[in-house]
Amino acid sequence: MIRTQILGTGSSVPDRVVTNDELSLVMDTSDEWIRTRTGIQERRWVREGETGVGLAQKAAERALQMAQLTAKDLDAIVYATCTPDHFIPGNGVYLQREMGIPGIPALDIRMACSGFIYALSLADAWIKTGSFKRVLVVGAEIQSTGMDVSTEGRNTAVIFADGAGAVILAASDNAERGLLSFDLHSDGTHAELLWVDTPGSMYHPRIDKAQIDQKRHYVSMDGKEVFRHAVTRMPESVKTALGRASLAVKDISLLLPHQANLRISEMVQRNLELRDDQVYNNIQKYGNTTAATIPLMLDETVRAGRVKSGDVVVMTAFGAGFTWGSCVARW
Ligand SMILES: CC(C)(COP(=O)(O)OP(=O)(O)OC[C@H]1O[C@@H](n2cnc3c(N)ncnc32)[C@H](O)[C@@H]1OP(=O)(O)O)[C@@H](O)C(=O)NCCC(=O)NCCS
Repeated sequence: MIRTQILGTGSSVPDRVVTNDELSLVMDTSDEWIRTRTGIQERRWVREGETGVGLAQKAAERALQMAQLTAKDLDAIVYATCTPDHFIPGNGVYLQREMGIPGIPALDIRMACSGFIYALSLADAWIKTGSFKRVLVVGAEIQSTGMDVSTEGRNTAVIFADGAGAVILAASDNAERGLLSFDLHSDGTHAELLWVDTPGSMYHPRIDKAQIDQKRHYVSMDGKEVFRHAVTRMPESVKTALGRASLAVKDISLLLPHQANLRISEMVQRNLELRDDQVYNNIQKYGNTTAATIPLMLDETVRAGRVKSGDVVVMTAFGAGFTWGSCVARW
């Protein structure tokens, strides 16, 4: 039986730290409000000239180094992002160009905060069916350039941030270890509860000054509704994915919940009755980096030695769409 193993992890964030106090200078908010409502203490935002592909490349190189492979060893790239550098083409091909590996397929997945879980599941299917042997999976976002940095945009501007994470996946015949199961869902009923309206191909032209004046090119979110769905869907999905791997909540060594809001993670933890040492959060330092939160956490925990051989690692996400899902892996 072919099983997909994670051979290496890597991550990269911009070096510009944006504190809550810095945001308080440009909008009506406070360090106290942001910390108590979201858990976020600071986040990373790019400087002009830094790009999503640039961050993704650094993350990919670090993952390749851990896997003791080079870019030429890769058979495919799956790049999860909903904030590509350009409308067309996707970021996968730009990353491929920067890495100097023309010819292999380079695919974008735009499933917002669930993007990395969806990307993993697709790469896993490619590997299991024998289509490709070694796949680079990236989750990377630049959210800061799409934020309304004024009081009107404060419910999103304080949350979203920039970053990148990557993993190298490879086929193995060790059935005990690797990606064991997935659970994936979407529900477009709620599409407009967390979205960016424009530019869009339904408009003639795709974006105009009136839309910009109405701030329809910024992320817009009904935070309460997102919160309500996220705290229910993530635990449900974790249990379903564990069941598919013939495991239970008690078997979890480490849960990596998408970093939307620390209060959401804490409610998911309580719902699943997990101890503090079974759940990892880093939203305090990085904010919500959408498709990058899970590979960022994975890289930090692997490099810190928090993930040991045989551990059951569960990744779960919820986000725009709505989309949600989980992946169970044995290290
Ligand atoms: C956005 C979120 C932090 C808002 O927290 P909340 O407790 O629901 O707060 P509300 O939206 O009810 O707003 C309460 C008040 O705080 C204000 N507020 C919103 N953002 C603020 C900010 N950054 N600073 C200060 N006040 C703020 C609101 O305007 C509102 O004021 P009002 O009562 O005068 O109208 C919260 O809903 C959340 O995190 N939701 C999930 C978001 C998420 O996870 N998104 C990513 C999904 S992948």
